[in-house]
Amino acid sequence: MDLSANSNGTSSSEESELYHAQIHLYKHVYNWVSSMALKAVMELGVADVIHNHGKPLTISHLASELKLHPSKVGALHRFLRLLTHNGFFAKTKLLEGQEEEDAYALTPPSKLLIKSKPTNLSPIVKGSLHWSSLNMWHSSEKWFTEDKEQTMHETSSGGQSFWDFLNNNPDCIAMFQEAMAADSYMFKIALKECRHVFENLGSIVDVGGGTGGVSKLIHQEFPQLKCTVFDQPEVVGNLKGDGNLNFVGGDMFKSIPSADAVLLKWILHDWNDEQALKILKNSKEAISERGKEGKVIIIDISIDETSDDKELIELKLDYDLVMLAMFNGKEREKKEWDKLIHEAGYSRYTITPICGFKSLIEVYP
Ligand SMILES: C[S@@+](CC[C@H](N)C(=O)[O-])C[C@H]1O[C@@H](n2cnc3c(N)ncnc32)[C@H](O)[C@@H]1O
Repeated sequence: MDLSANSNGTSSSEESELYHAQIHLYKHVYNWVSSMALKAVMELGVADVIHNHGKPLTISHLASELKLHPSKVGALHRFLRLLTHNGFFAKTKLLEGQEEEDAYALTPPSKLLIKSKPTNLSPIVKGSLHWSSLNMWHSSEKWFTEDKEQTMHETSSGGQSFWDFLNNNPDCIAMFQEAMAADSYMFKIALKECRHVFENLGSIVDVGGGTGGVSKLIHQEFPQLKCTVFDQPEVVGNLKGDGNLNFVGGDMFKSIPSADAVLLKWILHDWNDEQALKILKNSKEAISERGKEGKVIIIDISIDETSDDKELIELKLDYDLVMLAMFNGKEREKKEWDKLIHEAGYSRYTITPICGFKSLIEVYP
């Protein structure tokens, strides 16, 4: 007879395992709450108010600055309680009259939500948690079981690709380009560390360069370098260049303008291997005039489960599924990069971590 067995026949260790499993499952079911609470607080401008005040703020002070309805003050406290637990705010005590009250200070992650700062990542929160980024996930079962070569986005939107959706929705494309520009600012900091990558180049073409966020940063650092932002005509059609920075519309699957170097930042992960191979081959053609001196500079994720820590791997794997759902794209492991680069006909490459979770991959003919 099992003495540790309970009346329902399970042992206490089995029960404990069951309860832990339940907590693990529920935690993952409700992960979205933290994301949405972050979005709500970003939209309210909580980080901006605390930043402008210059020191920690109590809930009542915050609520009055944010012009909240008096009935919502308690709710703000509960949102901040979760986000403080998640590391977005730090709680301290402040003397209000005779009483000590809880007050909230910013932490490094919430400082990235201050809209007046160049490091503002609010557009990433807004774009990534917008309904247009989330709706497609409700069609995953249909997508998995249907015999159609579609992205999850296409399955959920009657066959419309994410790019076509953006091109038909001016507000959404503006939001997307704003998110890309915000993400690119981190690159300005990284640029200081990797100046050598751009030195000795006479010209560069920033393929899929959007509205030119990255190219403008490169142009500021290297004014002599001729930068061409190459993107879809819908994106760059109305943009005017300035001196060594110019905009060209076209299709990277057809051909890419010639230059000493091709920059592919946040591009190859949007596409499957066959499409990425085509882009890499067209890039090789674009740098061919420079012979062995030409290069392709890729900025993308490289998954390395042997050296990345758990949080970093989870972020990279999350990104992988986002790319899958939106574009049938993918984040690649080191060995996948190796295969792709060699299949495209390049002879060598180097991979260096950059911007916290991305990699700089320099590829040579
Ligand atoms: C994820 S965004 C990257 C933007 C930019 N490189 C950055 O890091 O901020 C991908 C870009 O590829 C562009 N794109 C998509 N299809 C394209 C095509 N066929 N030819 C040229 N650009 C394209 C999109 O318009 C978009 O600006």
